[in-house]
Amino acid sequence: MRINTAQGLEAVEQAMFQAINSDVSVLRDASSHILQAGGKRIRPRLLLLSWEATGGGDLARVIPVAAAVELVHTASVVHDDINDHGVMRRGRPSVNSIWGRTFALLTGDFLFTCVYSLMAPYEDLNIILSDATTALVEGETLQATAVRNGDFSRKSYMKIIGRKTAALFGASARLGAEMAEARGEQVEALARFGFNVGLAFQITDDILDLTADEDQLGKTAGLDLAQGKGVAAVEANATNNRSGLHASDQDPLAELRQRLLEGDTLEEARSQAKSLVDMAIRELDVLPSSTARDELADLALATIDRQS
Ligand code: IPE
Ligand code: IPE
Ligand code: MG
Ligand code: MG
Repeated sequence: MRINTAQGLEAVEQAMFQAINSDVSVLRDASSHILQAGGKRIRPRLLLLSWEATGGGDLARVIPVAAAVELVHTASVVHDDINDHGVMRRGRPSVNSIWGRTFALLTGDFLFTCVYSLMAPYEDLNIILSDATTALVEGETLQATAVRNGDFSRKSYMKIIGRKTAALFGASARLGAEMAEARGEQVEALARFGFNVGLAFQITDDILDLTADEDQLGKTAGLDLAQGKGVAAVEANATNNRSGLHASDQDPLAELRQRLLEGDTLEEARSQAKSLVDMAIRELDVLPSSTARDELADLALATIDRQS
């Protein structure tokens, strides 16, 4: 990574820690806990690289927005662990498992409110981030509704992951390009790039939920399978229709997991993620060649070629 992006990411860390400074110790401690645990920081990286690949400018202006994007994501995982009963996150006990559900809910709320302060000077850019945050909440809600109704299909799966994950990826790339004052065509190409990378990222996350364990992922594994979500949901539905998922005496979850690992579903999902990444990388053709553009392509490939 070039010095600019590395410096940028370091500054993003500082901006996030500054933003979460409350005199209410639970909020400060629980927020520091989740931030200090690290994470891939893929969304601010995407924002910074999109900004740099379209001409860059004043680094100090971009940092609060990159921090805001990562705080939206962080808030969403704190809340997600309440909903999913996740007890491990980023290699540490989750906020809900240390502080309990009430304080985890409030910590997530607090992280969302920190985003308001960071974004206050950015006028029109606010709508890009607020649209993505709305989409994220809608996606999580559509998913919970789908689980409740047992109505799964690939179409509904793609709609859910588009909103809960890909929208924020698309917004990160768009915000970076907007702040570099990129041409409209480049902004739109980068937004599509981010969105498709986000879809591929979530498909890969859903595969890893099935194939990897907690030590490898640093978060509780198998939750999506247990709740009938993710890639498992699409297959559970298909299998249900064919043969009846709960027909045998075996543990139905173990049985489903086994069938998924042996069948074509995961391979199909991997190949779909690869096609999305290929499509995303072709969008980069509208950008002048640069190291940042190459790193965007590397970032896209790394979202599907990862172990955690
Ligand atoms: C986890 O995102 C939530 C999903 C959208 C799958 P990340 O895998 O980016 O989480 P961290 O930030 O690296 O922990
Ligand atoms: C959640 O998806 C995505 C969010 C928007 C938080 P997952 O439920 O698959 O995320 P993990 O696996 O818990 O990180
Ligand atoms: Mg989850
Ligand atoms: Mg997951």
